[in-house]
Amino acid sequence: MGDMNHFRRPFSPPRASSPGLSRRRFLGVASAGLALPALVPSSVLGLGGQVAPSNRITMGMIGCGTMGGGNTDSFLKLAECRVIAACDVDKNRLNKLVHTVNTAYKDEGCKGYRDFRQLLARDDIDAVMIAVPDHWHEVIAVEAARHKKDIYGEKPLARTIAEQQAIVKAVEQNARIWQTGSWQRSVANFHKAAEIVRNGLIGTVKRIEVGLPRDYNDAERRHRNHMMPTDPPPELDYDLWIGPSRLMPYIQARLHRDWRWNYNTGGGQLMDWVGHDCDIAHWGCDFDNSGPLEVQGHGVFPPKGGVWDAAKTFRIELKYPRDIQMTIAGGDDEIKRGTKWIGTDGWVHVNRGVFEGSKEDWRDYLELPEEMRKVKLYQSKNHHQNFLDCVKSRKPTITPVATAHHSTIPGHLGLISMLLDGRVLKWDAAKEQILDDDEASKMLSRPFRAPWKL
Ligand SMILES: NC(=O)c1ccc[n+]([C@@H]2O[C@H](COP(=O)([O-])OP(=O)(O)OC[C@H]3O[C@@H](n4cnc5c(N)ncnc54)[C@H](O)[C@@H]3O)[C@@H](O)[C@H]2O)c1
Repeated sequence: MGDMNHFRRPFSPPRASSPGLSRRRFLGVASAGLALPALVPSSVLGLGGQVAPSNRITMGMIGCGTMGGGNTDSFLKLAECRVIAACDVDKNRLNKLVHTVNTAYKDEGCKGYRDFRQLLARDDIDAVMIAVPDHWHEVIAVEAARHKKDIYGEKPLARTIAEQQAIVKAVEQNARIWQTGSWQRSVANFHKAAEIVRNGLIGTVKRIEVGLPRDYNDAERRHRNHMMPTDPPPELDYDLWIGPSRLMPYIQARLHRDWRWNYNTGGGQLMDWVGHDCDIAHWGCDFDNSGPLEVQGHGVFPPKGGVWDAAKTFRIELKYPRDIQMTIAGGDDEIKRGTKWIGTDGWVHVNRGVFEGSKEDWRDYLELPEEMRKVKLYQSKNHHQNFLDCVKSRKPTITPVATAHHSTIPGHLGLISMLLDGRVLKWDAAKEQILDDDEASKMLSRPFRAPWKL
C-alpha cells in the first residue's frame, strides 16, 4: 500500500525530452509511422480493433467512496482507459476499490495510496478521477492540474467560490481537460429540454424553478448510535480526512457520505444538488459563463450545537440578466424537483426519469427534430466516455471547469445570504465580486487549516 511502484507497460516510449511533448503526443508521432521500435507485437499496437495498452489513458482514482466507486465502475467498462492507481484515507475503502479494479482486469496492476500526493507524483498517470468530500476538492484538483493530469472532478466544483476560482485558474493555466461529474448533461431528456428552451420553443424565458431535496437523507435514523465523539477507527487517517478544514472532534455521523450536512466539510442539500439542477437551468438559458445579478436566500437551520449545521430547508430568489427570475428551493412543496423553465409561450420541466412540457409531442421525441434545432447544444451520450474522448482530442468536454464554476455560484451566494439572515447580495458576474458588502465578501473564502493553503 502506498508504494510508488509504477504499472509496467508492455510498451513504454522514451520520456519526451521537452516538457511540452506528452506521452500521448509522442504516441501520436509514433503511430504516424515515425520512430517505432522494432518487434512491437501487434496486440500492443492495438491492431484488430483493440485499444493498444500503450495508447490507453492511464487513470488514478482519488476517493474510493460512494461516487468514487460508481465512477470507477463506469471507467472500468471503457476500453480506452486503464485504472492503475487508487487513493483513499480509509484503508478499508481503498482496499475494496483496488480489489474491484484488479478483479476486473484479472491482474495486480492497480496500486493503492493513502496520500494523494504520492499518486499525483507518478508520471505514468495521465488522468485522475476526484471524488472526495467537497472540502478537499480545491487542494487535490489544483495539485493534479499542476502535475499535468487531466481531471474528471466531482460537483460542486469546490467548497467556496474562491476555491473554485483557484481550480479554474490551475486547470486553464496548465491546459488540462476537465469533466465535471454533472452527468445530467449527458442524458437525452436533459439535453432535449435545454434545446427546447434555447431554441425559443417556450418563447422568452421569464422564470426558472430549481427544486432540490430537503433534510439530511435520513442520516438521523441511520446514525442514531453514532452521534458522540469517539476515537477514529484504525483504518482511517482522520487528520488527512479533515485536511484543510477546521479540526472537529471525530463523530462517525459526520464522516462518510454524511459530511455533507456540515458546512465545515460540505454545503448541505443546496450545494450537493445545485451542480446538477442549476447546471441544467443555466444550460437552457445560455448562462454557462455568466450568473445572477442579485441573490437572496432564507434557510431553516437545526438548533445550534448539534452534530450537523446545514439548513434543512431553504429558498433562494435570484435575479438574472434578461429579466429572468430564478428560485432554487429545497423542501418547498411549490417547487418540483429538477429544473423547470417558464416562458411567454410555454414551459418545460425535467428531472431524472421525468420530462413534461406544455406541448405533448415534445415528450415523444428522443431528440428534437432537425428543423427545431437551429441552436444545437453539445451532445454526449456517455459522460465518462466524453471525458476520455476529450483527453484524446484535447477539445472541451460537455461540462468543462468554467461551466461547473458558474453552475454552482448561485448556490454559494444563496448560502452566504442565508447565513446572513436573508441579506440581499448584489453580484458582479464579470468580476466575480459581491458589491458593497465586506462581510459577505469575506465569506467567498474560508480559512484553511495548516499546512494546507488555498
Ligand atoms: N455526480 C454525482 O451524481 C455525485 C453523487 C454523489 C456524490 N458526488 C460528489 O462526489 C464527491 C464524494 O462524495 P461521496 O458521496 O462519494 O462521499 P463519500 O464520503 O462516500 O466518499 C468520499 C471518499 O473520499 C475519501 N477521502 C477523504 N479525504 C480524502 C483524501 N484527502 N484523499 C483521498 N481520499 C479521501 C473518504 O475517505 C471517502 O472514502 C463529493 O464531492 C460529492 O458531491 C457526486
